[in-house]
Amino acid sequence: MSFDFSGDPFASGFWTPTRFEADLHDCEVEGEIPEGIDGTFYRAAIDRRYPPRHPLDIPYNADGAIDMFRIRGRRCDFRTRYVRTPRYVAERKARRALFGAYRNRSTNDLAADDLSMNTANTTPIVFGGNLLALKESSPPMRMDPHTLETFEEYDFGGRMTAESFTAHPKIDPQTGEMLAFSYEARGDLSDDLAIHFFKPDGTLERTVWVKAPVVSMMHDWAITEEHVVLPTTGMVTSRERLEAGQNHWAYDPSVPAYVGIMPRDGEAKDMRWFRGPPDRAMMVHTTNARTVGDKVILDAPCARGNFNPQFPNLDGGSFDFDARKNTIRRWTFDLVSSSDTWEEEILFEGVTPTSFTRMDDRFLTRDFRWSFNLLHDPGFAFENSRTRVPMQDNWNAWYRFDHHGGGIDRFSAGPTHELFEAQFVPRSASAPEGDGWLVGVANDYAELTSELVIADAHHLADGPVARVKLPFRLHMQVHGWWVPSDVLPFEFGRDYDYRGQDYGPAVRIP
Ligand SMILES: [Fe+2]
Repeated sequence: MSFDFSGDPFASGFWTPTRFEADLHDCEVEGEIPEGIDGTFYRAAIDRRYPPRHPLDIPYNADGAIDMFRIRGRRCDFRTRYVRTPRYVAERKARRALFGAYRNRSTNDLAADDLSMNTANTTPIVFGGNLLALKESSPPMRMDPHTLETFEEYDFGGRMTAESFTAHPKIDPQTGEMLAFSYEARGDLSDDLAIHFFKPDGTLERTVWVKAPVVSMMHDWAITEEHVVLPTTGMVTSRERLEAGQNHWAYDPSVPAYVGIMPRDGEAKDMRWFRGPPDRAMMVHTTNARTVGDKVILDAPCARGNFNPQFPNLDGGSFDFDARKNTIRRWTFDLVSSSDTWEEEILFEGVTPTSFTRMDDRFLTRDFRWSFNLLHDPGFAFENSRTRVPMQDNWNAWYRFDHHGGGIDRFSAGPTHELFEAQFVPRSASAPEGDGWLVGVANDYAELTSELVIADAHHLADGPVARVKLPFRLHMQVHGWWVPSDVLPFEFGRDYDYRGQDYGPAVRIP
């Protein structure tokens, strides 16, 4: 029986699964890591352990792995581990894939009938002392933030009854509280939403249950000092789709975007749904929102249509690559108006942003000026003649965008490099907004290796100030997370065993 990934169109070249775990102590550094950077950068990667068992499987259904870059005193250690989801453990035991099309239980092997479909492959966050690996269709996977050991699929000590949990919780920088939501919260196809409020110590304090106006993908949301802001997308599902063995989502442009706004201290009856025009349906990620008087203002990248060719159009039509292009928009909701829609202003267009957008999280919920965006900039020429994989329209730029004045500053990691979403690291706890560094991973398609690149966030055009160079490639990132060492203290340079003891070998699989 042959065993390879040749039947998976998403698993070739640089994207052949790495299927490895590693510790790399004292990584090679080109340039100088700024002395002020002291903390941990985590990223979630999608990296299959086994060839997919279903022809409609997609990369978003791949196993999640957590990469960890730990930085102090201009040095960096690296570690990567798969998340031991129930699915990972079962497939490892069976030595083959047991799960089928994306988020469709009817396509799974019978041996996986009762198992969680959690892949934990979207966002790693640290909250309440835990590392939580998140996938929006499942509860968090709780992990040790130092060893990357997996503990359990986590229901917050039995307090969370929702069956899913967003990959984009928000931590209020002023109060330390975390807010999160669940959609399809009582299982596939359910129109139940749960909005969760956590104490700073990690305790789930309160959940508000509401009904969604449409069962749709709800990937990201926003919070202000006073409100939660919940956008739907045009991605829909149905019992017919699932029974037909399709992947979970299809894009329906006739479904308008809804945005639900509820006071943070409110109840289900206080949720108000606004409704947008259908050609503005696809807001996947948000940048930031704020409440100003009777208005809620949301800034975010937004596409005209389907953002992802892996999710087909419901009418079977061909994918519109032009409609996936995001422009950075501002939506203003008037809470005292009787209108059920919102005002829109386009802040930025002209090149091709993705929906990946980050900011200085110390200013989350409030007025802010800077965002840091991932995009394709044709002005940064990509030297195909030097690369060993064919590339076009690659994500080759980070842009700092000025939400007050509209100006940009742009960053390239090099002519053979592709970038992933960056995280912002403040120069100090009291530094002005945006004063600090961007930290993120780049792939070098000439060397077939990955590196952590660091740039001065207010001088992006100067290029990297440091590159942490890995002697191997990493797999595709979804999101990352930065945790300063005053929030998550650690003993730098120590190899952590699963039981807190040092160990010798670089790789250990239980
Ligand atoms: Fe996301």
